[in-house]
Amino acid sequence: MPHPTYASYLRLDELLSSQQPLTPPEQRDLSDSERLFIVVHQASEILLSQVLVDLGHIDAGRCGRSCFTHRVDRAVRLVDALTGQLTLLRRTLRREDFLRFRDRFGTASGLESEQFKELFLRVRRLTRHAGGGRPPEEARHLGELDDAVRRWRSTHLELVGHMLGDLPGTGETSGGRFLAARLDGGPAGERPAAPPPGPDRGDTPAPRSGPAAPVPSASPAPSPGDPNRLRHVVVVGGSVAGLLTAHVLADHAERVTVLERDHYEDAPGPRAGVPQSRHTHVLLTSGMNALDELLPGLLTELTEAGAPRLAVPGDLGVWQAGQWISRRNPSAPIMTPSRPLLEHRVRRRVLAGSRIDVRTGTEVTGLLGRPGHITGVVVRDRGAGHHTRQDLTADLVVDATGRAGRTPQWLAELGGRPPAEEVVDTGRAYATCVFHADDPAGDLRGFYIVPDAGQPFGAIVLPAEGDRWLVTLSGPRDQAPPTDPEGFADFADRLPHPAVHKWLSTARPVTRPVGYRHTANRRRRYDRLGRDGTGLLVVGDALCALNPVYGQGLSVAALSAVALRKELAGGRVPPAHALQRAVLRSSRPAWDVATGADSPMPGATGNAVRSGPVARLLDRYLARVRDRVPGDPVVCTANRDVLFLLTPPRTLLTSPRVLRRALLTTAVPTPRDLPTP
Ligand SMILES: Cc1cc2nc3c(=O)[nH]c(=O)nc-3n(C[C@H](O)[C@H](O)[C@H](O)COP(=O)(O)OP(=O)(O)OC[C@H]3O[C@@H](n4cnc5c(N)ncnc54)[C@H](O)[C@@H]3O)c2cc1C
Ligand code: HEM
Repeated sequence: MPHPTYASYLRLDELLSSQQPLTPPEQRDLSDSERLFIVVHQASEILLSQVLVDLGHIDAGRCGRSCFTHRVDRAVRLVDALTGQLTLLRRTLRREDFLRFRDRFGTASGLESEQFKELFLRVRRLTRHAGGGRPPEEARHLGELDDAVRRWRSTHLELVGHMLGDLPGTGETSGGRFLAARLDGGPAGERPAAPPPGPDRGDTPAPRSGPAAPVPSASPAPSPGDPNRLRHVVVVGGSVAGLLTAHVLADHAERVTVLERDHYEDAPGPRAGVPQSRHTHVLLTSGMNALDELLPGLLTELTEAGAPRLAVPGDLGVWQAGQWISRRNPSAPIMTPSRPLLEHRVRRRVLAGSRIDVRTGTEVTGLLGRPGHITGVVVRDRGAGHHTRQDLTADLVVDATGRAGRTPQWLAELGGRPPAEEVVDTGRAYATCVFHADDPAGDLRGFYIVPDAGQPFGAIVLPAEGDRWLVTLSGPRDQAPPTDPEGFADFADRLPHPAVHKWLSTARPVTRPVGYRHTANRRRRYDRLGRDGTGLLVVGDALCALNPVYGQGLSVAALSAVALRKELAGGRVPPAHALQRAVLRSSRPAWDVATGADSPMPGATGNAVRSGPVARLLDRYLARVRDRVPGDPVVCTANRDVLFLLTPPRTLLTSPRVLRRALLTTAVPTPRDLPTP
């Protein structure tokens, strides 16, 4: 027998002759749009046939454990590919085109797809029996399959909402409302009774422009009698705080949608919406603990991806209060993955196998509802004009849009009062550059030069994955570190000890330095809006942005997600203002540390700068504590635990051991040379 050709093996003649739009070819543009609609449906059916082959094999009981994992994993990925095709349609099929050609196919509908019916039935059957008798590993894989199908269904619903709004479906259903009810567990498999013909059944002329109709929520309006579950949560901002919050809320909501302005890349990398992603980031011990609680195994994944783990002060040259801190003082761990790696791994874990949908390239431009009752958000496709405006309803909107978040303006646009704002701004300016270099001398794995009221220059030198060193230099507002390579290295000469400058002179830069100036501590008191904040929860930097020099923001995002989880643990979903108070409480220690250290800095401005005789007394006491940190293991440990957010700042005032040492002893000097272990 002759060998087949590529075309004959794949039967391309048949395959490629079966796209037959019903729109006349002379309406070329419209006909091509309809062709795309057909192609996506056909491609879906082909991929789906493979899912059914795999599930059929499992169902027939022919699979051992590794075959089971392999087949289910393949099915999950195939279903995710189907979901990707829906997203493609959502992004590239013009709504006005769809509304013009949809009448041509009469009552034909995806509802008639035998393969999809079989998929839904098989997955239901397999997952219903998942608990009974299956090893936990297999049950977990089936859970992922169930999640993948849910993702397909909610992406489809989102697509339908965009294309149809309130219009009925071609399959003689109410369209979006019918599908939403099925997503909520309504009858599957059988065709619904035809609804009475509505006034705007398919004969309605297609709207050609203007705002799209509201996208129906995946669920009907929340029933006031069911306080145990949120129906639809919208999280605005798909970075660390948004993702972790979505992860927690997904356990208490029918559906969570994350809206992110940027497009995500497959691999870790900086992105425009997170301008700080090129700067050094540390994950404090408290943040590591919190992330481990939220996403067990994540820290191991980061380590496997090359993220360094350091002991502080054991591995670092930390310069504080005019001295090196003794490396023999007790240490605690930190991790130093790059910001993009950390976010990438968090994202991968949060979005795998959960009921969270993400819409990237989607920008929120305002809130829906009225003061005291936020009911959703206004969105548009990024880069598109206002004609792509959509209203997305939700019973809880989470703002995780970071430091530049605009919720105060959005509340004001609805006629509400914006939250009070507290600010302490030292004007600290940053610049960061990536280097290749040898390890510093003496087993050191980095430097941390802490600025203070008497010494305004700071440096952070830390390893990151990929054999790189991230170096951040900082100075007061009128002495910003330069962003040209020579100027950057020269600036290090201003540091109070020559070690960093000397090490930099042997290092090779692999990027140009990048600057950053928005370092004010800014906290917005959404917790004080009380019932005016109903339906709204603000998290992460959008709530409380901190001077990055203390390296706390990521840890606070994780600690806040843990606090949220605890607040929700009672079963009943508390009102948004109670959740808001819990989240704010969880960021308070970090706020107190950062504003406490920044208030006495020369040139600090803002309405929350600590002043007056009590503040001066407190500052004097804390200066005595800081002076004792380098040479006193007890004070060093207590201070480190506060900085690492392991104990509240007040312990520095209430611990008798710390009080005694701060008030009754003199500071022990440490050697001026680089500290040895
Ligand atoms: C220079 C610098 C260094 C830092 N170093 C450290 C450190 O060492 N350790 C540490 O723990 N923290 C550090 N931080 C703080 C840390 O980066 C932040 O606390 C953390 O990133 C906050 O996360 P977030 O999710 O709240 O906001 P971001 O990470 O800022 O994310 C906000 C997201 O919202 C999206 N978005 C914004 N507006 C919209 C909209 N209208 N619609 C849809 N999406 C929108 C953005 O695209 C982005 O993805 C540093 C910060 C800076 C500036
Ligand atoms: C413009 C794009 C699409 C729109 C507007 C749309 C609309 C609808 C509507 C309104 C329904 C409900 C039944 C009805 O009245 O027709 C439905 C069901 C369905 N559609 Fe789509 N659809 C689209 C794309 C797709 C694609 C690409 C597929 C993949 C093959 C698909 C598969 C299905 C399936 C399987 C159902 C039944 C769902 C269930 O049983 O819960 N649809 N669609």
